[in-house]
Amino acid sequence: PLTAQVNRDDCLEIGGCDISELTQKFGSPLYVLDEVTLRTACRQYRDAFKRYYPGESQVLYASKAWNCLAVCAIVGSEGLGIDIVSGGELYTALKAGLDPNKLYLHGNNKSLDELRLAIESGCTIVVDNWLELKTLATLTCDRQTPVRIMLRLTPGIECHTHEYIRTGHLDSKFGFDPNQVDELFEFVSQQSSLAFVGLHAHIGSQIFELQPHQDLGTVMVQWLSKAAQYGLTIQELNIGGGLGIRYSESDDPPSIDEWVKVVCESVAAACQEQNIPMPKLLSEPGRSLIGSACVTAYTIGGEKTVPGIRTYISVDGGMSDNPRPITYQSLYRAVVANRMSAPIATQVTIAGKHCESGDILIKDAQLPETRSGDILVVMATGAYNYSMSSNYNRLPRPAAVLVNAEEANVILQRETYEDLIRHDRLPERLKEG
Ligand code: LLP
Repeated sequence: PLTAQVNRDDCLEIGGCDISELTQKFGSPLYVLDEVTLRTACRQYRDAFKRYYPGESQVLYASKAWNCLAVCAIVGSEGLGIDIVSGGELYTALKAGLDPNKLYLHGNNKSLDELRLAIESGCTIVVDNWLELKTLATLTCDRQTPVRIMLRLTPGIECHTHEYIRTGHLDSKFGFDPNQVDELFEFVSQQSSLAFVGLHAHIGSQIFELQPHQDLGTVMVQWLSKAAQYGLTIQELNIGGGLGIRYSESDDPPSIDEWVKVVCESVAAACQEQNIPMPKLLSEPGRSLIGSACVTAYTIGGEKTVPGIRTYISVDGGMSDNPRPITYQSLYRAVVANRMSAPIATQVTIAGKHCESGDILIKDAQLPETRSGDILVVMATGAYNYSMSSNYNRLPRPAAVLVNAEEANVILQRETYEDLIRHDRLPERLKEG
């Protein structure tokens, strides 16, 4: 899906920009985000919902995958709304000019400040638990215009993905227990300052099966129909995100089109069966919108061979710019960007530069011969890389550039050492003299 090609110098080009030249100009490591790929994925989602769902629909970008001004602005310009999970993400989306009517605030422990910011800005609050529901009822009791809320339920649907990124099983920290829906709907129906908009659920991330999402559609519509019995008017149904992407050769996820088709058909069929009007159907993909749209370019440094065991090749970044391998044992693919047609000649382990043995980006990567100074490009780093990055070992965060039609624009400036100590304070008594 990347707009990638190999140029006459045998170098990888994305969005018409030579990756080696980009690292010379903007430094290394470097996140390179391909605008066309991101926009194409937005359109694929939007168009598929139009094609397969007879009612209204709205795609929200789950911005936890990568939240920054430029990304918010791009998805906003494609007509998508945004799923945000904190005051910081909300602030960024608002600053990027997003319409608050298309912003949905999630989170299992929203602070009072976050709730107030959400209420003032007019975004929809996806209520996660009883404390939050009651707090909101109190916070809004004097308001003339009710605050739009959705309720997040734990659907009790299992799926096969890493334990840390499953959210739909009953033993999850997110959402209301579905055994309490009667109490919940009863309570909500009595709150005049809270406008019930609909229900939300999300079952997990990097999911390749279609069945769990099909089941989710059916289960959610049953709850909607129950809500209607309490006089709650059903407007919206949000079935979350979760569609996986291809990281390694063996990954074979369904397409966006296939996923949307299954979701739409299951919700439409369930509505017909329950004899309820079709709600506006919301989904909130993150990874499948932006994951494949970005690569990370590193510069190769030293090499170490442990005879008979393995060869390590070190790069100038690692777990601070991509914590996914060390956190979830995630697999990635890499290429040598300045020698694209060189034949595969070796199996090496790509090590990050952090003081941590587990800081390995790719184990047993198949690569051509490499030299110090070569540019190693790790593919599909758009989701949960920058957004989960850190300053571990006081590494400044890399820059990110947006590439399109041979143009590269910085969207995140490289952090400096000065940035690293910006919030440090040295108490007077620790100062010399
Ligand atoms: N909606 C909700 C309520 C979510 O919690 C998530 C992801 C999404 C939507 C978007 O899911 P996606 O389409 O991106 O799968 N850091 C982990 C992933 C955590 C996902 C958290 N929630 C990783 O790097 O794999």
